[in-house]
Amino acid sequence: MTVTRAPDPAPHDDPPRYDRTVDPAEKIIASQAWLDAAAEPLQRAIVGLYERGGKVGQRVEDFLHGKYIGTPLHPILVTIPIGAWSVAAVLDLMELRGRKDVRAGADLAVAIGLVGGMAAIATGWTDWARSGDSPIKRRVGFVHGSLNESAFLLYAGSYLLRGGRARATARGLGFLAYTISGMSAHLGGTLVYKEGLGVSHTAGQRPPDEFVPVLADADLPENVPTRVKAGEVPVLLVRQGEHIHALAETCSHLGGPLSEGRIEGDAIRCPWHGSLFRLSDGYVLESPSAHAQPCFLTRVQGGQIEVRPGRSPD
Ligand code: FES
Repeated sequence: MTVTRAPDPAPHDDPPRYDRTVDPAEKIIASQAWLDAAAEPLQRAIVGLYERGGKVGQRVEDFLHGKYIGTPLHPILVTIPIGAWSVAAVLDLMELRGRKDVRAGADLAVAIGLVGGMAAIATGWTDWARSGDSPIKRRVGFVHGSLNESAFLLYAGSYLLRGGRARATARGLGFLAYTISGMSAHLGGTLVYKEGLGVSHTAGQRPPDEFVPVLADADLPENVPTRVKAGEVPVLLVRQGEHIHALAETCSHLGGPLSEGRIEGDAIRCPWHGSLFRLSDGYVLESPSAHAQPCFLTRVQGGQIEVRPGRSPD
């Protein structure tokens, strides 16, 4: 077996996959390299903002990625503007057909959507900024976010005009913004369901249910991240004193190789985007991953380290 020492963290592209550009909208946007001139500086600016914030910046970023609820926050928050603006669109249509009594409800729905939209924008740009070097994610995410910003600004304009004489214009801006946000939602779905942004990259792994031998005990050095396999599933082993920690080796964020990461005390930092996982239970100490790393129980039998999925009651 090969023992690898963790190199310094370095930027890394996503692993190659097939079937990446079947969706027509995604295909067109992904081929627009000129978008990088705006997208890359924006990604760097967002990351730099959090990094300059030190510990506070890290906590804010953790919160916006969804670390504290164990799942990305962005898809939860987007339901607020989508739902509120859908109600507003229906009420605006009713008003068009003569129902003046629905005006207040439509205006309130637009306002609720604006508040939820701000939160959705903050979480969305934060997730996107840590989406790696993949040009597809960068360009599609940039267009997705830009369309959402446009819809937000149009709804803000719509809201401001609603109290005056330009109510018809306000409704028109609202319908335009709703159309744009629908187009943007398609791109958001592409990013999640096709490109796997926000999805745990360990979700499809099926290690054996029972203990299986993975390595001779004598071959595991102290405090060296070591990659082994349980069935077809890559597993990270780290010996620390009398403990042998075992986590899924594939980073839940975007699939980075944790065995090439860096040990920091009782945790390991992913070499791709810096998520920090506690070795004993896979808990996310620092985002961008929102998903805890699956962990394994370990034991030594007949000189062999054995693992099976599970979490120590300790
Ligand atoms: S792959 Fe992004 S932090 Fe690990």
